[in-house]
Amino acid sequence: MSESVQAEIDQLRGELRRHERLYYVLDQPEITDAEYDALMRRLQALESAHPEFAAPDSPTVRVGGAARDGFVKVDHSSPMLSLDNALNPGELAAFDQRAAELIAGDEFLYAAELKLDGLSMAVHYRDGLLHSAVTRGDGRTGEDVTENARTIRSLPLRVSASWPAFEVRGEVIMPKAAFERLNTERERGGLPLYANPRNSAAGSLRVLEPAITASRQLDFYAYLLLVEGKPAVESHWESLEQLSGMGFKVNVNRRRAASLAELQQFCDHWERQRDSLPYEIDGVVAKIDSIAQQEQLGFTAKAPRWAIAYKFPARQAETVVEAIDVQVGRTGVLTPVARLRPVTVSGVTVSNATLHNEEEIGRLGLMIGDTVVIERSGDVIPKVVAVKAQGVERRAFEIPKSCPVCGAPVMRVEGEVASRCLSTNCPARLKESVRWFASRSVMDIDGMGEVLVEQLVDKGLVRNVADIYSLTADQLQDLDRMGAKSAARIIAGIEASRSRPLPRLISGLGIAFVGERTAQLLAENMGSMDALMTATAEQLQSVPEVGPKVSESILRFFAEPHNRALIERLKAERLVMTHEMRRPATGPLAGKTIVLTGTLPTLSRERATELIEAAGGKVTGSVSKKTSVVVAGSDAGSKLEKATLLGIPVWDEETLLRSLES
Ligand code: IVH
Repeated sequence: MSESVQAEIDQLRGELRRHERLYYVLDQPEITDAEYDALMRRLQALESAHPEFAAPDSPTVRVGGAARDGFVKVDHSSPMLSLDNALNPGELAAFDQRAAELIAGDEFLYAAELKLDGLSMAVHYRDGLLHSAVTRGDGRTGEDVTENARTIRSLPLRVSASWPAFEVRGEVIMPKAAFERLNTERERGGLPLYANPRNSAAGSLRVLEPAITASRQLDFYAYLLLVEGKPAVESHWESLEQLSGMGFKVNVNRRRAASLAELQQFCDHWERQRDSLPYEIDGVVAKIDSIAQQEQLGFTAKAPRWAIAYKFPARQAETVVEAIDVQVGRTGVLTPVARLRPVTVSGVTVSNATLHNEEEIGRLGLMIGDTVVIERSGDVIPKVVAVKAQGVERRAFEIPKSCPVCGAPVMRVEGEVASRCLSTNCPARLKESVRWFASRSVMDIDGMGEVLVEQLVDKGLVRNVADIYSLTADQLQDLDRMGAKSAARIIAGIEASRSRPLPRLISGLGIAFVGERTAQLLAENMGSMDALMTATAEQLQSVPEVGPKVSESILRFFAEPHNRALIERLKAERLVMTHEMRRPATGPLAGKTIVLTGTLPTLSRERATELIEAAGGKVTGSVSKKTSVVVAGSDAGSKLEKATLLGIPVWDEETLLRSLES
């Protein structure tokens, strides 16, 4: 018994490790999040039933264990130094020249990497296992954050290496998307927002509860490999390749540069492209590649002479808040927006910044007339980070009691930080919701942009999203700046949107808390709009990731007669109202995972798959412990062998066909 448990635990661990690497390091997942979670839960259950098989490198430690009282201070093996900065090409050239002089005429190469904007961490491995992780701290002494670091999925818990002990240094970061998500959640929960991904990465690594770190989707990029406190290979480039080979995540955006010109080119490229990256960078780090030459150059008291940080211009600027306006979004939420005295931030003129909600304004201590620091990051709307100086004539801001667009009463919904316009006919809400419906990631209606939506709503041609489908080319041609050709294109775009899959339509309805992902899960688990409309709270909450808040919001939406009428009209317009269910809950093969192998006497592979899926089963490609049945035809090979080995039942075609009837 315990042997087979041990075997299953080992097998699950191996599988989870492989999927973690595919997902977190290589960005090439093979299974869905739900399938991954299911494997993880199975392993957790086995481990808690059999604590004797616990292991410090089990993937379950990624989920986070018990909280602690505080962090222990630990000395670093060698100081974690900072880098000298070059703020412009001239300073980079000066660095290059100094290095050339010190290297005294020999050739040298640069290893250029992105300077990730996070916090640095040293991770120690012993006998192939992650042993401890320490924050940079003051460079000499840091904090032991081992348990939290273990939850970072891209950080290997065990590696095969040729040294009994080694150390990896790198940067802990929070990807932009995770940061945005976290702040949205915090905003909903009325918690203070993080100013930028770096602060939230630091905050998330230094919490006493590892489970919180686990939920924050941090990432670790390795950039230094040390054995006994020193590099173990001949060049920095090689150590990066070693790290990557050992399973660490090493940034692929790196370059070996043979000259200052090449290095500058790399810097310029990433300065232009920084917004295209999924994480924040604040510059480029250039290191002299050869370790022998690094040794020749040595260190100053605070930084190596063989490396330099080429810093991109700050994306912060100071300006005055001249007014605070209020915008009304598609779910009626009122968002205060700061109108700024225009200011240039890294080449872009900024005159508006979002303030999220009243609470955020309170947290900042902001009043109209104050001088503020604003920050622009990526393509997101600039935000106010701090009040720099109070205005002489400052005025407090208050959320209006009535909607600035339609005049309907505004209410602060219980449990939310946001205030909402209560009228569902508010033109501002309507415009926003039509715009959302037509947008690329939703119904993707070609040609229906902001300007058109504005006119359609103002002219009364569109009073809800169903009206879009009764628009005619003649009506469109009457609008400003609209020719026959563009009208025809928009009509074609509207036609094409009728066949968008159900998840898009659901997310297009603008139900509060139902975004693209939730819409997808709802469609997969409900199978149709009708099922969604008539579902009970209990049925809704059986859908993954749907809790009481989301189900409440869906019920409230469909309780409104005009929303139900809207759906009826969309049905009449022949929009897609059903969706293939992910896992039919019923059917004779429900819950069974089936592998097909060899040639079946009458059924093609495709037909067999169709039949199995229709009966509630799932077809996968490879045999594992999770496989329920292997259906084998003639010339079945290794899959059949493996099934026999694992003791998995083997059916022929006839047995399969009979099982469909039962
Ligand atoms: S090398 C002695 N490489 O920048 C070498 N640092 O100002 C020290 N950083 O504290 C660091 N990306 O937190 C290095 N690719 C990279 C980096 C990087 C970000 C950070 C690191 C360090 C700071 C130096």
